[in-house]
Amino acid sequence: MLKTHTCGELRLSHVGTQVTLAGWVHRRRDHGALIFIDLRDREGIVQVVVDAEAAPEAHKVAEKARVEYVLQIRGEVRARPEGLQNPNLPTGEIEVAAQEVTILNPAKTPPFYINEDVPVEEALRLKYRYLDLRRERMQRNIILRHHVVTAIREFLNARGFIEIETPLLIKSTPEGARDFIVPSRLHPGKFYALPQSPQQLKQLLMVAGFEKYYQIARCLRDEDLRADRQPEFTQLDLEMSFVEQDDILALIEELYLYLVEKVVPHKRIREIPFPRLTYQEAIARYGTDKPDLRFGMELIDLTDIVAHSAFRVFAQTAAEGGHVKAITVPGAAGYSRKELDALTQHVIPYGAKGLLWMAFRQEGVRSPAAKFLTSGEIQAIRERTAAREGDLVLIIADEPTVVAEALGHLRLEMGQRLGLRDPNELAFAWVVEFPLLEWNEEEGRWQAVHHPFTAPVPEDWTLADTDPGRMRALAHDSVLNGWEVGGGSIRIHRSDEQQRMFQLLGITEEQAQAQFGHLLEAFQYGAPPHGGIALGLDRLVALFADENSIREVIAFPKTSSAQDLMLGAPSPVAEEQLRELHLAVLSLER
Ligand code: AMO
Ligand code: AMP
Repeated sequence: MLKTHTCGELRLSHVGTQVTLAGWVHRRRDHGALIFIDLRDREGIVQVVVDAEAAPEAHKVAEKARVEYVLQIRGEVRARPEGLQNPNLPTGEIEVAAQEVTILNPAKTPPFYINEDVPVEEALRLKYRYLDLRRERMQRNIILRHHVVTAIREFLNARGFIEIETPLLIKSTPEGARDFIVPSRLHPGKFYALPQSPQQLKQLLMVAGFEKYYQIARCLRDEDLRADRQPEFTQLDLEMSFVEQDDILALIEELYLYLVEKVVPHKRIREIPFPRLTYQEAIARYGTDKPDLRFGMELIDLTDIVAHSAFRVFAQTAAEGGHVKAITVPGAAGYSRKELDALTQHVIPYGAKGLLWMAFRQEGVRSPAAKFLTSGEIQAIRERTAAREGDLVLIIADEPTVVAEALGHLRLEMGQRLGLRDPNELAFAWVVEFPLLEWNEEEGRWQAVHHPFTAPVPEDWTLADTDPGRMRALAHDSVLNGWEVGGGSIRIHRSDEQQRMFQLLGITEEQAQAQFGHLLEAFQYGAPPHGGIALGLDRLVALFADENSIREVIAFPKTSSAQDLMLGAPSPVAEEQLRELHLAVLSLER
């Protein structure tokens, strides 16, 4: 090795030791005869002193060094003089008196500060990702991710799980998101698809008798991107035979406890065992199927109270089958008129037509609707919302889905403002009893809410002919602090039931054979009852790292327009390469 010690490990106990260090110039301060270099490697930073008198050759070299130069330094560890210690640095009690400085490689001036946590435009960060990753925050995140994966493997290996790789070149299936496809050179006109998840393969591994499988699996989906979505992302994918839903939830709950203890022990888990909500409950109380349970401020239904109100918006909404719902924001009655009106901007994007506020102040209730509401209605609203003096009640009247979404987002905004979303608190929860199917208006058919391999609650098969929309799935989503961090289900394991499901989804027998014949056939060779889950590793790590975007925990992510700015992908390929693949690019000009 070009070094005997790491920069971060040196302490008072090393005083007097001869060391050789290698790393990057984090900072350099030139005081003439004395040059101070903060030398950085992965393990930390140490101060190096180069004294022109004691080491004239070394001093000459140090004069040339600039930030991000790669240096090798030979010297002796000594205690820093009294009063010059740096309590903010683990190595702050010592310094290294250089005897020899070697420039291993010079560096151009980096396009942004690596030694300071200042905001940098993301496009620039992504173009120079290898420099961005040198920054402390990114080193911390990527190493945290490594610890999470390590702990996952430890935990599952100890419980008899087997890690199995599944292929990346598989077959396109119509359900789910859009596939990325790969042209075949050997089979002109044919394509592989990259897996959106190893779903079918892990089920086939259950048929194969492995019983407990997992994989840190790369998944690829050609969908619109957001802060919590990347075209390629990583799942902890897991499947078990001979289990019921409770067994899966219990295992994952234990896994989460293990991860928190091993990786983020400074964080508190809000509630153990994790609360379980049905899908209906989650929507009714929080307006979303991934509620942030770090705080209450639940959605309260006022529809019955205002159904016959003189405030037309309310009465009309109720008459049309809509909802009138509210949240109570404690201590916010003092908002100014301007601040109150500005709140509307937080609900308009979700389709709400307006936002009504009622401020319960000492001098009485203030509200744009006050003159239309009877004192009885106001009293009933106040009781139902449990609003106390000083509280603000925010009300939306609209179609149920609009109310849920708009008020659900407003709840998050108000929770944020009140400081109720502490990143050091982990509110894990399960959402269960999802609907099995949802109606696809465009295509005029039912589609699977999760995927077509999800088993319904057994007694709900009876609804298949009469009311498929009411069938419940044996599905479970893992929710953490308002993010969906995982999803899974008990699967269908019988060929006839799987065929029945395809029928429900409007897939003909022929299509089912062509697309899923392998699975239908496999189920006829003794498929065990099985189920599983996949956790979004990027999301979980982002939450552990207190990051708002999963891009911050992925070494080389894509932009929101699915580009790799460092590699310059996607990019055109040579004509020759296309020909080999039997492809031609249609002109993109219109
Ligand atoms: P699902 O599609 O719900 O289930 O995915 C499981 C989890 O993966 C994460 N996730 C994503 N993370 C980042 N970027 C994306 N584009 C993205 N899409 C999904 C989420 C999600 O909860 N095969 C099933 C699992 C199963 O049934 O066992 C599946 O893939 O955190
Ligand atoms: P308007 O009748 O449009 O003057 O609105 C009176 C008040 O009711 C304003 O504060 C609006 O923001 C609010 N409002 C309008 N439509 C709705 C709605 N669908 N839900 C809740 N409040 C609304």
